[in-house]
Amino acid sequence: MNPIYLDNQATTPVDPRVTKAMIPYLSEQFGNAASIHHSLGRKAKETVEHSRKILANEINARPKEIIFTSGATESINLAIRGVCEKNMDKGHIITQATEHKAVLDTCDAMEKKGWDITILPVDDRGKVDPHSVKDAMRDDTVLVAIMHANNEIGTIQPIAEFGKICRKNGVLFLVDACQSFGKLDIDVNLMHIDLLAATAHKIYGPKGIGLLYAKSKDPKVELVEQITGGGHEHRRRSGTLPVHQIVGFGRAVTICDPSENEELSFLQNMLINGVMAVHSDAHLNGSTDHRLANNINFSFPGLDAETLIIKMKGIACSTGSACSTANLEPSHVLKAIGLKNEMAHSSIRFSLGRFNTKEEIRRAINEINHVLSSVKENSPRQQLLHV
Ligand SMILES: Cc1ncc(COP(=O)(O)O)c(C=O)c1O
Repeated sequence: MNPIYLDNQATTPVDPRVTKAMIPYLSEQFGNAASIHHSLGRKAKETVEHSRKILANEINARPKEIIFTSGATESINLAIRGVCEKNMDKGHIITQATEHKAVLDTCDAMEKKGWDITILPVDDRGKVDPHSVKDAMRDDTVLVAIMHANNEIGTIQPIAEFGKICRKNGVLFLVDACQSFGKLDIDVNLMHIDLLAATAHKIYGPKGIGLLYAKSKDPKVELVEQITGGGHEHRRRSGTLPVHQIVGFGRAVTICDPSENEELSFLQNMLINGVMAVHSDAHLNGSTDHRLANNINFSFPGLDAETLIIKMKGIACSTGSACSTANLEPSHVLKAIGLKNEMAHSSIRFSLGRFNTKEEIRRAINEINHVLSSVKENSPRQQLLHV
């Protein structure tokens, strides 16, 4: 039997309706969207443009402002490297401590090339203070990169406030919206967003397809192409377009419905309350009021998260970002909100999704509580904590 899947922030299962929409483009509709001299190619191009329109609409952008990429990591690389290379040799970038490594490592790479990077701190709930963004601005600041919602602790940032500050100061604003696209309202115009990265595999679409929104006027964002060879996507990202993936991304977003958040929120509260009713020492990391409806991140003081996860055989969950689980360092996100190493190593993320049921959450609560109780019983460290 498959485990109960509570790792939806790492990736979501593909919705069967998405798979169904993609299949014809893996069989009879196999044309290359750049082969406009025959009907198969023209059909592929039409299909790509249809999806591009749907995806643009989702964030109130223009279709020509959407660039297809292999995923959000590539979108973020294109945004940061592309903007920096277009602008000048050196300058200043502002970002914040709980960003995904796609942003932090790319900023690191820019630092090695001579750019100055300011990494803003967050409060104990993971929020960035808009005043700190304003205070960090310098004459040579080119870009501010702040995520919409965090992948480990679910904290939602006040994006519109940062956008306003950036626009007022003539600085470009990049938003990593991987965890919010299709889940929270995003209007790139109202929020003054110049660049935005999103990916299909967090919204029940296929892996390997993402997008970068780049504003086309007032201001027009100029990018240096990072993948060259053919000048696709208006010379912003070369490579044959994966039509089936693009169809899947577009279909996935048409299925997203904000009302899903109510159901997720119900399941989220059920799991939080169900665990805390039995294990009141569990500590919920992140914000209570500005939080994604699908995220739960608990620290279990004195217990080792890896050991707990191995024992929770019926549940698929993670110790934090899937992308850094190969790393034995404690999560940079949990450290940024002030957790000591030991507490960070005791933390588990349970992330919910469209296909989770109340019955599954009931079973998950039982299993989590059972494992916590048995590990506590056998843990001298825990026994000490309770004397
Ligand atoms: C917040 C955030 N940013 C960026 C990424 C990278 O996205 P992709 O897997 O499409 O490269 C992820 C996915 O793990 C994410 O959660």
